[in-house]
Amino acid sequence: MHLKFVLLLACLSQAKTSEQVRYDNYKLYTVQINDVKDQQLLSDNEKVLKLNSWSAARRIGDSSDIMLPPQSQEAFEALLNSHNLNYSIKIDNVQRLIDEQRPKQRLSSMEWTQYHTLDEIYAWLDLIEARYPHVVTPFTIGDSYEGRPIRGIKISYKPGNSAVFIESNIHGNEWITSATITYFIDELLVPRNPAVRDIAHNVDWYIIPVLNVDGFSYSHEVERLWRKSRFNSDPTGECVGTDLNRNFNYRWMEAGASADPCEQTYAGPYPESDPEIRQLTSYINNSIPEGTIKIYISLHSYSQLLLSPWGHTALEFPEHYPQMMGVAKGFADAVVRRYGTEYNYGSSATTLYEVSGSGKDWAYGVKNITIPFTLELRDRGEYGFLLPPEYILPVARETTEGFVGLIQAARGINVL
Ligand SMILES: *[C@@H]1O[C@H](CO)[C@@H](O)[C@H](O)[C@H]1NC(C)=O
Ligand SMILES: *[C@@H]1O[C@H](CO)[C@@H](O)[C@H](O)[C@H]1NC(C)=O
Ligand SMILES: *[C@@H]1O[C@H](CO)[C@@H](O)[C@H](O)[C@H]1NC(C)=O
Ligand SMILES: [Zn+2]
Repeated sequence: MHLKFVLLLACLSQAKTSEQVRYDNYKLYTVQINDVKDQQLLSDNEKVLKLNSWSAARRIGDSSDIMLPPQSQEAFEALLNSHNLNYSIKIDNVQRLIDEQRPKQRLSSMEWTQYHTLDEIYAWLDLIEARYPHVVTPFTIGDSYEGRPIRGIKISYKPGNSAVFIESNIHGNEWITSATITYFIDELLVPRNPAVRDIAHNVDWYIIPVLNVDGFSYSHEVERLWRKSRFNSDPTGECVGTDLNRNFNYRWMEAGASADPCEQTYAGPYPESDPEIRQLTSYINNSIPEGTIKIYISLHSYSQLLLSPWGHTALEFPEHYPQMMGVAKGFADAVVRRYGTEYNYGSSATTLYEVSGSGKDWAYGVKNITIPFTLELRDRGEYGFLLPPEYILPVARETTEGFVGLIQAARGINVL
């Protein structure tokens, strides 16, 4: 009886794996972009060579990370060589790293030594909600497109605090974000040093560990590199998913977003078309007293960047740009002290690329939240989205110290 049960489980999990999208011998290239012609060459060949961009060059002189299937690697290298483009291979078998991110044995508890599924993260939330009822207030902003609850927690030690709002894993494939933020939650509940105790006690934290619950589950179960939601608004029905960080109702679709449902940066058919975003903004509008959120953080990976508004233009800067940069510096200086991890910061249009309809621009442009950031965690593309599990703890620890530096800097200029 017992054996039968075990075998049945083994079969089920095998059936699941066999349906997974595989990336055997796919390679991740990094290509140096020296002028706009180089950029054009890559976009001209995107479809025919099946280029999959993990991270685009931020500016001329920078490099782009591009994944290719085995059958087009030779043609791609020939193309780069014939145009004298400098490149190297960062990952020579993407599937190997995907396999290394899947634990051989699943731990039943959170140890931050492996990546957890949504069910495991939610089971852990149940646990801490029961264990720390005096500081933790659970909330649910609503259900996802596929009907999963989108859960968050508020951590508050006393009334009257200003608040920080953090949404994480809005992109399904950015697993390090929910791993990091759950560790940070644990730190806030059991602070390991006085500086963390201070930011736990004197700030209210609203945290949604996994906002894109459908995309995250799909990334675990079927397609490791899945970024978007699972809402299908393609008139042809062919391409699934909205880039949720292009779906906010501020300067929607003005720049750095796509109207093509098959693209990774598809902004959706209209602003707030996806329930995840509609309910997130509705929760912030209706369930958090106006004016209490002073800092909004959208947690992403990878690139080691803090990005502020504006996303839609590089020609203008928001009124509070100097304050934003001061707070970003507080974060970056604190992070680098731990393990030497370097962060850059600036507005997204001037630092990364143009983007509109993102959470941080909505937070500033619509909600007047003084300090809004997109925070891109480690690394800089050595592993990209496939950061091995042994990096979880270092990233989580340095990010916790970064948050301490960020809060201290915000206090220094009276934002908090
Ligand atoms: C370009 O070439 C230089 C020198 O050979 C090398 O150090 C650098 O890493 C290369 N850049 C890329 C993107 O491969
Ligand atoms: C939240 O409030 C903003 C304006 O303050 C509004 O533009 C937006 O539509 C609201 N969101 C929802 C879902 O009601
Ligand atoms: C944000 O500030 C603008 C300009 O000061 C004001 O018109 C708007 O009502 C404010 N919105 C909120 C949600 O406080
Ligand atoms: Zn992202």
